[in-house]
Amino acid sequence: MDVSNRIFGYTNSEYLEKSMVHFQLKFLWNFSANLPQPILEPSCKNAIVIGGSEGFGFAAADHLLCKGARAVAIADDDPVQGQIAVKKLCDSYGKNSAYYVPYDLRSDCIVEIGLKEALCKLSVIHIIFNDLDKERLPEKDPVVKKDKSTTARMIRASLSLLGRNHGGPGGIIVSCASIFGFMGWPENPFPVYCNKEPVIEVTQDLALQERYNRVESKKEEEETLESLRMTVKNSIAVITGGASGIGLSCAEQFLLEDAKFIAILDLPSTNAEDVVAKLKNQFGQDRVGFFPCDVTKDDQVNSSFDKIVESLGSFDILINSAGILSRKDKWDVMVNVNVTGLTRTTIKAIDLIGKHNGGKGGTIVNIASIAGFVPVPVLPCYAATKHAVVGFTKSLSYHYEKTGVRMMMVCPGSTITPMSINLDQDMGLSFVSEDEVIDFKNQQIKQPPEYVSKAMVQLIEKGENGAVCMVYDCEPPYLLKVPTFYDLVKSPL
Ligand SMILES: NC(=O)c1ccc[n+]([C@@H]2O[C@H](COP(=O)([O-])OP(=O)(O)OC[C@H]3O[C@@H](n4cnc5c(N)ncnc54)[C@H](O)[C@@H]3O)[C@@H](O)[C@H]2O)c1
Repeated sequence: MDVSNRIFGYTNSEYLEKSMVHFQLKFLWNFSANLPQPILEPSCKNAIVIGGSEGFGFAAADHLLCKGARAVAIADDDPVQGQIAVKKLCDSYGKNSAYYVPYDLRSDCIVEIGLKEALCKLSVIHIIFNDLDKERLPEKDPVVKKDKSTTARMIRASLSLLGRNHGGPGGIIVSCASIFGFMGWPENPFPVYCNKEPVIEVTQDLALQERYNRVESKKEEEETLESLRMTVKNSIAVITGGASGIGLSCAEQFLLEDAKFIAILDLPSTNAEDVVAKLKNQFGQDRVGFFPCDVTKDDQVNSSFDKIVESLGSFDILINSAGILSRKDKWDVMVNVNVTGLTRTTIKAIDLIGKHNGGKGGTIVNIASIAGFVPVPVLPCYAATKHAVVGFTKSLSYHYEKTGVRMMMVCPGSTITPMSINLDQDMGLSFVSEDEVIDFKNQQIKQPPEYVSKAMVQLIEKGENGAVCMVYDCEPPYLLKVPTFYDLVKSPL
């Protein structure tokens, strides 16, 4: 909707109000647009407008919706005007674009109920615009006044809703002041506006305090991160599928980086014993061990991990590399290895090393694939298993606070290993021709597995919980931002 067309429909004072809101919000978004990552995009965001039933507050609500906000809660002590405002907004922007919630700063209880109701209706809140005009003239004791002012109380209540330290999404709080707030009291010509002075002062004070708290907590966070920083050196790592391809390359790279011990879990039927014997000869007899294990078998996973913990005390890293590409009639076996097996070993490891169970935490890196993010028409079942790995790992990363186990992913592009070399026409489906599979195989730029294993070391040593590292086409590794619900692009049905 074009703003300029809408503005002409307003009276002069509404026009003035709207222009100022437009200026203020535009400023916020332009400012954020200059930052490397925008703080806030107006689209898909939810807002509470306090005092939003009329005047400036209503204009702010209208403008937010006009700019693509998903929904606005009109928080006001006047339910009649509030409902009228909601109706006007819903008429312009569609059903459920606005809600009324009760709000009265004279009662802490109603404030709490109002904000909770807004949260309930909007699920998540990103912007709080305060246009309350209930400030009284400055009292004798400005300190008490400032601290207890309606603006201070509103900002504190809003911080508890938005602040990341309270589990909120972060966001923006805007206090609506006035130019007359800068003009001093009681000389200014519009006494009604002199009450805006504490709004400016209180907002600035609390913003500074918040900034200070943030800097302090950032410092603490960095110090904690530094103390938690993991090195591959001296670590004990478990690698499923460690007897071949990417898993084996990781084992070699970790040993080169002076890892203390590598436990290789692989199928008993493979030549894993020979591989491990070679590694022992190269890096030392007591630095590598083979634990025969089919990750699809619960008892084998349990007994291998239990043996590792029994003999080594614990472990620091799990790399889930066991994976297959199945023939056309065996897609269920592939789902079993790539999804069920990886799920099983991951949960087992978190239970063993997680802080929630008295462990010291650690790192799990699941090998997904670029096929975990994009469709692979030639290999739809394989792509499905890798999408599952992405969803599982990303979801688990939200439990880091409890478990102390960083959940990360490495997503390789085509890599020279037995798996990619053995990709053949049998791996298609009845509707995917042999030629399509072979064409797909020939189009891939294949990278040596060392590209992946070196990236793995970097990720373990520098990556944050939830990090996703892409290693593709022999390019240097890079991190990938996985979209959250709010990053998804909407388009009309
Ligand atoms: N090679 C690639 O192009 C490529 C690209 C992206 C992702 N990946 C992923 O990387 C991982 C490693 O693949 P790779 O290319 O090194 O393959 P690979 O065949 O060389 O190695 C896979 C290993 O997993 C083991 N394994 C298979 N089933 C198992 C089971 N049930 N229990 C225990 N171990 C089992 C195999 O014995 C083998 O040692 C896989 O998850 C794969 O999907 C590979």
